[in-house]
Amino acid sequence: MTMLDELHQDHVNLTRLLDMLRQKVAKLREGEHPNFGLMADVIDYITNYADVHHHPREDQMYAYFRGRDAELDKAIDRCEAEHREMKHLGVELSEAVDCILHDAVMPMDQFTDRLEQFVTQQTDHLNLEEGELFPKLQAVASEEDWQELTKDLPRPEDPLFGEKQAAQYSELYRELLAEMVNP
Ligand SMILES: [Fe+2]
Ligand SMILES: [Fe+2]
Repeated sequence: MTMLDELHQDHVNLTRLLDMLRQKVAKLREGEHPNFGLMADVIDYITNYADVHHHPREDQMYAYFRGRDAELDKAIDRCEAEHREMKHLGVELSEAVDCILHDAVMPMDQFTDRLEQFVTQQTDHLNLEEGELFPKLQAVASEEDWQELTKDLPRPEDPLFGEKQAAQYSELYRELLAEMVNP
């Protein structure tokens, strides 16, 4: 498995979570109140795991391939800027969910807009990477590049999709399993 394959697997996992959030947006638009605790876990996982693990690995990979191709460099610039924007929106959204969980006043349509914006931003970013950046990297990279990039690189445990689930995500994990059986 190259680093790109691992990052791609993260994207597959993220896509499932974003699908869940998209369903929550639809529910909220219909005036229903979804399980906010579970929603908080999804957002927390996406923002924390992405910021601590996924984006830094991507940034490292992008930095490594800089200067090989002008078009590629442009796409890398965009991606890196998006990582910063996503972090910002993720923090904002986590705070908004916290407010709701602690019964603070928060207009639901305002929250729903924010949640939808978050889902759209994450999805667009995934599409940019999967549709444009990753194929470009694949085209310029050699076997030696991937070896160079993965050497001495510890693979941190994924607290949701890894072999050992962290207790904090156990409810979310059960929900994902249930969804697999009963989509
Ligand atoms: Fe990214
Ligand atoms: Fe990514």
